[in-house]
Amino acid sequence: MNCILVTGGAGFIGANFVHYWLREHPGDFVLVLDAVTYAGNLSSLSDVRNNPDFKFVHGDICNRELVAYLLREHNINIIVNFAAESHVDRSITGPDAFIRTNIQGTQSLLEAARDVWLASTKPPETCRFHHVSTDEVYGSLGPDDPPFTETTPYAPNSPYSASKAASDHLVRAYHHTYGLDVTTSNCSNNYGPYQFPEKLIPLCIINILHGRPLPIYGDGMNIRDWLYVEDHCRGIDLVIRRGKSGGVYNIGGCNEWTNIDIVNLVCDTVDQMFRSDPKLQDSFPDSPPASGSFSKELITFVDDRPGHDRRYAINPEKSEKELGYRPETAFEQGIRQTVNWYLENTGWWQDIINGTYRDWISTHYGM
Ligand code: NAD
Ligand code: DAU
Repeated sequence: MNCILVTGGAGFIGANFVHYWLREHPGDFVLVLDAVTYAGNLSSLSDVRNNPDFKFVHGDICNRELVAYLLREHNINIIVNFAAESHVDRSITGPDAFIRTNIQGTQSLLEAARDVWLASTKPPETCRFHHVSTDEVYGSLGPDDPPFTETTPYAPNSPYSASKAASDHLVRAYHHTYGLDVTTSNCSNNYGPYQFPEKLIPLCIINILHGRPLPIYGDGMNIRDWLYVEDHCRGIDLVIRRGKSGGVYNIGGCNEWTNIDIVNLVCDTVDQMFRSDPKLQDSFPDSPPASGSFSKELITFVDDRPGHDRRYAINPEKSEKELGYRPETAFEQGIRQTVNWYLENTGWWQDIINGTYRDWISTHYGM
């Protein structure tokens, strides 16, 4: 039985991972540590709240004493670090929080793990620190460049990716210097349930439902390699269970799309759902398909993101060969599932949009 500490478990991928782990590894104990920043959402965990194998702690990964206490108190043998500031646009307007959480926070977790795990009589290989990172650390690809491998030199371009690159190096250094058992995964763009509506896909779904513009940065020809979040969770699971100590694994979808093509796909998917379910017209009267128009009419080209990386793509060969990893969800199917989830869980995102979410936390959790 594992006792696993999931940092950032109230965020998008972390919450999906908690659901995934409790389902796939019954009997394991999952402890979430999350500061519940603007991006954290306790309602993403509300359906596991009463599971005896689950516990939530409100706290900051920069609080090393708290982390060390939790590792001892719950006999934690796996840490999965999702906690981060994750939005590139916010890192451009306010980088400080990214340096604090992504760099200092990761180091705080590593120090706590070193204190507790390496000082204990338990052999270090029974405890694993898994660090969740991003393909953005490798920088930007030209149109004909081969996809990123695990040996592509780091060339981060935004304060976000620079802070993640620094955290990756710290994880590597704690393995090399102290012998801490670590693994790192560098993943491409995720999409799916519980994603905060500042990111491209949920932003577009929700703006279509309200009849608001769909902002496309620059010429819309930037490319990302999209992966359904559940496939990412499965990849992390494989790295934790089968990855070599000190190993780095790229996880991706082999699924490159330009932004404009994605937004068009989301528009077509929503329009199609309105056609097959006329009740949606009453629920979202301002949405173009409610009045027989096309969601694509909302597409609006806006100023580009400063330093906007042109293309990301992952070469997943190492994860396939060493771990047997393969993404399972086709993009069109994943987009349908995602649009459907946002249609069926309007309360989740309306609370965020209406700003009532903070009140909900204090009523339900007394914080
Ligand atoms: P997110 O922004 O949705 O969630 C981050 C979570 O971390 C939130 O719950 C937040 O409250 C928590 N948090 C922030 N600062 C904290 C602190 N100091 N202490 C404790 N908790 C804190 O992020 P996400 O999209 O779920 O990304 C999770 C991880 O995966 C990040 O490390 C990110 O770099 C990485 N990643 C994300 C993607 C993607 O497409 N979203 C792709 C590859 C890698
Ligand atoms: O590649 C992995 C990364 O993917 C993760 O490390 C990050 O945490 C995650 O946020 C994501 O970063 P991106 O910047 O690629 O994601 P975002 O959804 O913000 O943007 C996707 C693309 O869409 C990007 O090229 C910018 C563009 N975009 C985004 C928004 C929010 C728009 O054109 N308009 C928008 O309004």
